[in-house]
Amino acid sequence: MQITYYGHASFLVEIQGKKVLFDPFISPNELAKNIDISRIHPDYILLSHGHQDHVADALSIAQQSGAMIVISWYGQQGYEKCYPLNHGGATQLDFGTVKYVNAVHSSVLPDGTYGGNPGGFVCTSEDRNFYFAGDTALTLDMQLIPKFAPLDVAILPIGDGFTMGYEDAIIASDFINCNQVIGMHYDTFPFIKIDKEKAQHAFKDAGKELILMDIGESREF
Ligand code: NI
Ligand code: MN
Repeated sequence: MQITYYGHASFLVEIQGKKVLFDPFISPNELAKNIDISRIHPDYILLSHGHQDHVADALSIAQQSGAMIVISWYGQQGYEKCYPLNHGGATQLDFGTVKYVNAVHSSVLPDGTYGGNPGGFVCTSEDRNFYFAGDTALTLDMQLIPKFAPLDVAILPIGDGFTMGYEDAIIASDFINCNQVIGMHYDTFPFIKIDKEKAQHAFKDAGKELILMDIGESREF
């Protein structure tokens, strides 16, 4: 499995021969200005919730690639190829199984439209299992996730302010029973700037690894 970071909460996961894009917010992100979204051609786009910093490029990337958008509300936005999921629901896609799990967050769109219930995704496949938490607080519900699947890696928000911070992400990694964490949702805006070295030390002290990828970087997991 290969994971590429596009900044903020956006990742491209290449798994079982398929490309799965999470929460594309690339063209409005000054930090990701070197990423050319016209070159991103996923098979699936998984959206954790309707906030702009998670969906900004979803429609244009879907239209250029013909990707299937997986979310509960996007069908209302004029794009036909959507797969609806809601909390607790799982579906078999051609790279593996995707289960939509709880997140504690909000999801109203800037114009007041309902943006679905915010969630995360537990993805299992014959290759690797991973959890993309979306924007969320630390929640006891995360303790359920190891009952669904043993995780190889988890993508968790660490920026505080709008989501959990890294201290809570350490507790989350206990709950989900996964010590290899990729951080997201930090440094993009002034409110979520963090001390990255301190965060990584805190994980290390807890016997865990916090991976902070460069924007545009790809790694094998
Ligand atoms: Ni959000
Ligand atoms: Mn967000």
